[in-house]
Amino acid sequence: MTVSFLDKRELLECLRAPVVAGSNPVGLMAAPGFVQIASIRSVREFKLPRIWKILVDSRAHITLMITTRRFTRKDARSVGKFIVKVELEFIKKIDKFILEQYTPKHILDKWPGTYVLILEENKKIIGVGRAKPNGWITHVFIHKKYRNKGVGKRLMSRLEYWLKRKEIKEFQLNSSPYAVNFYKTLGYESNGRKKIYYGLAIYPIKKSLFK
Ligand SMILES: CC(C)(COP(=O)(O)OP(=O)(O)OC[C@H]1O[C@@H](n2cnc3c(N)ncnc32)[C@H](O)[C@@H]1OP(=O)(O)O)[C@@H](O)C(=O)NCCC(=O)NCCS
Repeated sequence: MTVSFLDKRELLECLRAPVVAGSNPVGLMAAPGFVQIASIRSVREFKLPRIWKILVDSRAHITLMITTRRFTRKDARSVGKFIVKVELEFIKKIDKFILEQYTPKHILDKWPGTYVLILEENKKIIGVGRAKPNGWITHVFIHKKYRNKGVGKRLMSRLEYWLKRKEIKEFQLNSSPYAVNFYKTLGYESNGRKKIYYGLAIYPIKKSLFK
């Protein structure tokens, strides 16, 4: 199964060689077994029909319909719940202080002014990631069903792109123990010793564009 997203330029290419479901263009057959899907925003922009059905290519590989969009105030509760659920996969109990960070109130107080991307399939949140104008990336979480399909990598590239456009040359993160190697594949390196933050082990890492 391969997952991808389209940006505007890619969508224009796609329109030259559209994949058709019924009589509607919905994506690009980039390679056998690989279909790229337009984001809802792109679909609106190009007035394509909103079809979010499963496409099956000649080799019968199924593509996930993942859409990306910016966080809105209405998402505060569901995003908080989503993050807590993912955290609980890895630890038995979450410290009260950490839990408070995921309440709608805290999210609505602290997240405005930052770049938060929501990933969805069938209107259900399957991922989130956040970048702050000071170069910090936080809250990168992918639903377990969607891991190891390149979704996290794509999400990170979108967050980094936003930071690069703000002339940020160094990206910083506190990684969970489970994600350190994921970030290493993306060019991050250690930026200090492991720390314990309210019961959570965190590994400071960074990626510098100065080299
Ligand atoms: C860490 C996480 C965000 C990665 O997202 P993902 O969609 O599974 O990652 P991708 O499929 O995009 O993987 C990209 C690359 O990293 C590698 N990778 C992914 N997870 C990895 C892991 N845990 N250890 C080592 N490598 C990993 C993949 O093999 C892939 O390598 P490739 O490009 O050479 O093929 C996701 O697993 C997750 O949400 N984990 C639980 C929550 C968490 O720990 N979040 C981080 C908080 S700081």
